Amino acid sequence: MMAGGGGPVAAGGPALHVPVLGAPALQHLNVRDGGVYIDGTFGAGGYTRAILAAADCKVIGIDRDQTAIALGADLVEQAQGRLTLVEDRFSNLDGVAESCGHETVDGIVLDVGVSSMQLDQAARGFSFRLDGPLDMRMSGEGVSAADVVAAASERDLANIIYILGEERFSRQVARAIVKARTEAPVVTTKALADIVASAVRTKPNDIHPATRTFQALRIFVNDELGELAAALIAAEGVLKPGGRLAVVSFHSLEDRIVKTFLAARSETRGGSRHAPEIKRAAPSFTVLTKRPIVADEDEIARNPRSRSAKLRAGERTDAPAHRGEASDFLPRLPSLDDVMRGR
Ligand SMILES: C[S@@+](CC[C@H](N)C(=O)[O-])C[C@H]1O[C@@H](n2cnc3c(N)ncnc32)[C@H](O)[C@@H]1O
Repeated sequence: MMAGGGGPVAAGGPALHVPVLGAPALQHLNVRDGGVYIDGTFGAGGYTRAILAAADCKVIGIDRDQTAIALGADLVEQAQGRLTLVEDRFSNLDGVAESCGHETVDGIVLDVGVSSMQLDQAARGFSFRLDGPLDMRMSGEGVSAADVVAAASERDLANIIYILGEERFSRQVARAIVKARTEAPVVTTKALADIVASAVRTKPNDIHPATRTFQALRIFVNDELGELAAALIAAEGVLKPGGRLAVVSFHSLEDRIVKTFLAARSETRGGSRHAPEIKRAAPSFTVLTKRPIVADEDEIARNPRSRSAKLRAGERTDAPAHRGEASDFLPRLPSLDDVMRGR
C-alpha cells in the first residue's frame, strides 16, 4: 500500500508515494551494489524507487496490473537500464527472473494486496464506497466479482465470505445475495454493498458492513492467497544463499501464510516425539523478524491504512529448497473453476 505525499528524493526524482513500512522493509532487504532485486508488487513504484536509491543495483518490478506497469514507463527510462518492468503474477517470479537473464537474485520484496490506485478508481470495482461495475480483477482478465456473485452456490458464497472475509454473518449475506440475484443481476458495487448491509447487523462505530464481503470476493477473484503461497515457494527457489525475502501483508490470513511458511522453512528440530526417525530437511531460511514489524504511531497518523500492516523477513540459507506445495499453506476452499460451475 502507498501513502500519498512527498517523500525522500530517490533515483528518478522525488518519490510520489511512500510505501507502508518502507524503511524497515528496505533495511531487511539489505540492498547492495551489484545486487539484483525483485519488487513483486510494483504498484506505484514506491519500493522500487527506494531500492534503486539505496545502491547501484538492478530491480525487476512485477505487477499483474497493466496500468501500474504502463505508469512505470518514466521510471524505467530514468533508471537507465537498472529497472525492468514485467506484467505478470508474482507466483511466477522465478520465471520472470529467468526471462530477465537471472537464475538467482539477492532479494525479493512483496507488498501484497490492493493498491490505493486500484481502490480509488470506481471503474475497477474494488470499493464499496464508490459506485462502479462489480469487477475487482487486478489484471482486468478472467472471472470478475460479478461473475462469482452470479454463478456461485449459496454454500460456496457463504464459505468464501466466512473464510476469506472472516464475516460472522456469512450465511445471511450469502442468502441475501442469492435472493437478490433472482430478482436482478448484481453487477454494481453499490448493489452488492446494499444487499450486504441489509444482511449484516452492525453497531455504531463498526466498520462498513460490506468491508468483509468485499475483501473476501477480492481475495477469491484474484486468488490472492494462492498467489502469495506460490510466490514464497518460488522465492525459496530463486534466492541466493544470504538473499533476503521481505513481505508486507495487510490482514491476518496473509500474515498467517508468511509466518507459517517461514516457520516451516526455518525449523531446525528433528522428527517429532512420535516419529523421531523422520529427518527434517535442513532449514532453507533464517527468520529475521521473530515478531512481525508493525507501523509506528507516526506512520499510522500519516497513513491510517498502515495500521494493519505487518512485515516479516527471512534470509535464505545455503540448504536446498524444501519440497512442498502452495496448498500446504492455504485454507480449504473450492477453486474458482468449481465455484463458477455453481456446484
Ligand atoms: C499494495 S500495492 C503495492 C504498492 C507498492 N509497494 C508501491 O510502493 O507503490 C500492491 C500491488 O501489487 C499488485 N499485485 C497484487 N497481487 C499480485 C500478484 N499476484 N502478482 C503481481 N502483482 C500483484 C497489485 O496489482 C498492486 O499494484
